[in-house]
Amino acid sequence: IDSDEQILIDIHTQSTDLYHHILMNTEMGQSALDYLHNRGLKDETIDKYQLGFAPSNSILKTFLVQKKYKYQDLRKSGLFLEDDNGDLKDRFFNRIIYPITNEFGNVIAFSGRILNKDDNQAKYLNSPETTIFNKRKVLFNFSNARNTIRKEKTTILYEGFMDVISAYQSGLHNGIASMGTSLTDEQIYLLQRNTTNLYVCYDGDAPGQNAINRSIGILEKTQLKLGVIQMPSGIDPDEYRQQNGESKFKSYMHSALESVISFKMHFLKLNRNLDNENDKINYINDVIREIAKISQPIERDVYINQISEQFGLNKIDLTNQLNKLVNRNN
Ligand code: GTP
Ligand code: MN
Ligand code: MN
Ligand code: MN
Ligand code: MN
Repeated sequence: IDSDEQILIDIHTQSTDLYHHILMNTEMGQSALDYLHNRGLKDETIDKYQLGFAPSNSILKTFLVQKKYKYQDLRKSGLFLEDDNGDLKDRFFNRIIYPITNEFGNVIAFSGRILNKDDNQAKYLNSPETTIFNKRKVLFNFSNARNTIRKEKTTILYEGFMDVISAYQSGLHNGIASMGTSLTDEQIYLLQRNTTNLYVCYDGDAPGQNAINRSIGILEKTQLKLGVIQMPSGIDPDEYRQQNGESKFKSYMHSALESVISFKMHFLKLNRNLDNENDKINYINDVIREIAKISQPIERDVYINQISEQFGLNKIDLTNQLNKLVNRNN
């Protein structure tokens, strides 16, 4: 790490402290703190994640200028918007601040959430890429989760920051999330070095289901042992905890783990009517294609039996078709 990068990290550390102080101890932060408490977050959790609040005035700029940071360093931090005259003003205002850390636990960026639903504004606003923040490399919460992950050899990948934080408060300390994008090679490399099992736990809505399918497609090419934790329809993990409490959340997470193939069997049914011959044939072909990806012959056999029974199809025909695909895969 060179000294230019150290300065940017210092700026982020100072900014994290300021935003956190505003949230916890000031009138300006009161409505944001109420919001987080209403979502069931404990002060202990808010403290652990150093959550903060950026108020509406350009308070960060004033604060950092007082700390004698140079204009060029403030510019490079990504925390400011620059007008045509080169004047800087705070990028984040009226937003809850989630510090984003690198794998060593240094704050390198922020994500800011609006307090109230507003169609004219993005729900989350992230820092832009800087010399210290490369979105492709970051996994939210990785530095906190690393020890647990290495011990348990298991990681849960969530869709959102709040899901990770919710899980942490519920006693599941192995959660991570990407920055709202699909997984990159860099993130997968980091995971492969630290975990054996990876369970994908996204939202129980249509975008969440499609995103699980996309992530599995990427992760299938790795050595990671995959699983899917399916949320009840229409809710995300954080909403589950809000509605049912932490201990129910935790036991749900254990009970809802399923194999990739059972996720696929469910997923491939969506938007299809299995009473329709064409849809049914396409479904069966797609499922056989997924079964062909399984490396254990016995496991393949179990699922072929299942399909055979479910659709009243000849097992030998199914197996013949499967074997053509298996041979092609090898
Ligand atoms: P909450 O509403 O606070 O519970 O957030 P959520 O995590 O449930 O949000 P959602 O399921 O809608 O989106 C999942 C993730 O996608 C978020 O955690 C963000 O990382 C990302 N995301 C969602 N909305 C936006 C957005 O408007 N802009 C950007 N850049 N990312 C977003
Ligand atoms: Mn604190
Ligand atoms: Mn979602
Ligand atoms: Mn969500
Ligand atoms: Mn949510």
